[in-house]
Amino acid sequence: MRELNLIGAGKVGQVLARCWWQAGVAKPQRILNRSTDSAAQAAAWIGAGAPQAADQPFPPASLWMLSVSDDQIAAVAQQLADSQVLRPGDVVFHCSGAKASAVLAPVQACGALIASLHPVRSFADKDACAAAFAGTVCSLEGDEGALQILESCLHAIAAETVRIRAEDKLVYHAAAVFASNYLVTLMDTALAAYEAAGIPRDMAQKMAEPLARLTMDNVFRIGTEKALTGPVARGDWALVRQQSAAVHGWQPEAGQLYDAMVTLTAALAARHHSAK
Ligand SMILES: NC(=O)c1ccc[n+]([C@@H]2O[C@H](COP(=O)([O-])OP(=O)(O)OC[C@H]3O[C@@H](n4cnc5c(N)ncnc54)[C@H](OP(=O)(O)O)[C@@H]3O)[C@@H](O)[C@H]2O)c1
Repeated sequence: MRELNLIGAGKVGQVLARCWWQAGVAKPQRILNRSTDSAAQAAAWIGAGAPQAADQPFPPASLWMLSVSDDQIAAVAQQLADSQVLRPGDVVFHCSGAKASAVLAPVQACGALIASLHPVRSFADKDACAAAFAGTVCSLEGDEGALQILESCLHAIAAETVRIRAEDKLVYHAAAVFASNYLVTLMDTALAAYEAAGIPRDMAQKMAEPLARLTMDNVFRIGTEKALTGPVARGDWALVRQQSAAVHGWQPEAGQLYDAMVTLTAALAARHHSAK
């Protein structure tokens, strides 16, 4: 079993470490968080490992997970490089969706193999996540030797892996921003529009929910082109112009959002018509 040191055992670090430990893939050894209490709680939840004192040297390990928040990765990598505990061939990886492995350059200069390993799911509920990690898609990029080791560790816990190019990471991460974050903003705007039209919030939710759920279901069942309905799909440009003006009159930012959606929605409708 590989030894695993963790720097930043928060939600993601704890779930991966617990899955690997329970599957006999890696033995969590030392855990460095900002606070020792937090590291001790992480060790208890994982079921293995012990807090690492910040002023003590880490014991060697063949796997190093830097699952700190994105803005800490570069600094933590530099501290790890400076501590001179890394051996050639040790694998050091972070879990950011937006950052590439290149942010780990200081440890690569010590002979370590670097990678980014991004599990594509929300880790809001650790227990649920760890219990159902199988099938989670993890994207990987970095040094070939690191990728092969991480792929075998992930396949051992039934995760799926996909390789991406470092230069694509920001656009790759934007996909999740569209699919998750901006979807929430769109729904919030839809609910606000119902309310602006005099519909009470609870009734607005009742109206929006089946629309949103059925549409999402259609997107993944029959594809985006066939799932599209509405005035742009019908080519009802007179209505689109009137609606744009009305939405601008209600709220200028929502008007801009409405207009920004028209071009790509029209292109999607055109794809559907040309495929018929
Ligand atoms: N959350 C998600 O759904 C999700 C999904 C996929 C990928 N990711 C990525 O996974 C990584 C970790 O995210 P997370 O949600 O697990 O974060 P998190 O729950 O906030 O945990 C971050 C951990 O890092 C520790 N930490 C922060 N700065 C540190 C430092 N300088 N030295 C040592 N430890 C430090 C914190 O310690 P304390 O506990 O002492 O504060 C905390 O335990 C990020 O790169 C994130 O983008 C997150």
